[in-house]
Amino acid sequence: MAKIRVGVNGYGTIGKRVASAVAAQEDMELVGVTKTRPNFEALSALRKGYDLYVPDESVEAFGKAGVKIAGTLKDMLSKVDIVVDCTPGNVGEYYRDMYKAAGVKAIFQGGEDHSLTGISFNSTANYSESWGAQLSRVVSCNTTGLLRTLNPIDKAFKIKDAYVTIVRRAADPGDSKNGPINGLEPSVSLPTHHGPDVQSIMPWLSISTMAIKASTTLMHVHTVVAELEAEATTEEVIEVLKKASRVRLVRSKDGIKTTAQIMELARDLGRDRSDMYEIVVWEDGIKVVGNTLYYYQAVHQESDVIPENIDCIRSMCKAEKDSAESVAKTDAALGISKS
Ligand SMILES: NC(=O)c1ccc[n+]([C@@H]2O[C@H](COP(=O)([O-])OP(=O)(O)OC[C@H]3O[C@@H](n4cnc5c(N)ncnc54)[C@H](OP(=O)(O)O)[C@@H]3O)[C@@H](O)[C@H]2O)c1
Repeated sequence: MAKIRVGVNGYGTIGKRVASAVAAQEDMELVGVTKTRPNFEALSALRKGYDLYVPDESVEAFGKAGVKIAGTLKDMLSKVDIVVDCTPGNVGEYYRDMYKAAGVKAIFQGGEDHSLTGISFNSTANYSESWGAQLSRVVSCNTTGLLRTLNPIDKAFKIKDAYVTIVRRAADPGDSKNGPINGLEPSVSLPTHHGPDVQSIMPWLSISTMAIKASTTLMHVHTVVAELEAEATTEEVIEVLKKASRVRLVRSKDGIKTTAQIMELARDLGRDRSDMYEIVVWEDGIKVVGNTLYYYQAVHQESDVIPENIDCIRSMCKAEKDSAESVAKTDAALGISKS
């Protein structure tokens, strides 16, 4: 079977990781990536051997800077089956018509609204909904994190109501513009958009969310309180999460007390860019009291959505019918395992 030809529009935090992940899949070919500015990241892409494409308006700047391009964005679109749009939030809409006109399928990211595509994606919760679709959207890092744990818990014990507080990282590590650099900033528009975003994939779930921006760049942390319909013990919940796809349990008593040690673990695992694709749940922080379940989880915002983008490509391009098979292929290529 011919490889799926993939282009990545936007080579920032998410785009550079999607590009590496595509290049690592046996059934996909990375045709190229786009940049608007000829900065160090453009040179990094060339160093990795990726073809660089640019919007028409940027051709002159790349020529002046002496950075070699393979063509324009339109040229890249003429060579691909699917484009993964990794441009900043709310920019995707600008490109949607261009992708449509070029006859290529397109995946957008969580910075876009569900209404842009009408379909949102998570690998285990709704893989088949994007089957053969022209457009889809991989939900945000936080929403992906919530779906990875709430979906298997809901399947096992049926969640009556979930209440989540999201402690958000203020900026990505390479970003020196955003803040706060000191202090905690609550989102005062309540409940936050994260609950409705989870419902774009699990519409039956009753979920309410709040969020606080914190002066850290490493990861987000969620506190989750869920009222369960079925009786459950702490041990049974641990077993469900142990088996859940792309969820990693860690223990505070083993020395993983903060997100700093989770990132150190990711470095020890030797992953590309030291990424932690899994949602990390503190096993000794899971507790059931009566019908109420409590747990904490950490989300590596730069990377948890990357495997989802790969599975979404396979679903939209009808390359793998079985979600579990796609997840297994992706995980093997990215080095994700339960050990
Ligand atoms: N970072 C996260 O934690 C995270 C997690 C999950 C999902 N997301 C979502 O993923 C998407 C991308 O976020 P990101 O964090 O990767 O952003 P980013 O790091 O700012 O990267 C955006 C990329 O898009 C390019 N770009 C900027 N303006 C453009 C334009 N008008 N046309 C084409 N390309 C343009 C930039 O290239 P130039 O530098 O060359 O302009 C850059 O390579 C957003 O929807 C975001 O909400 C982000």
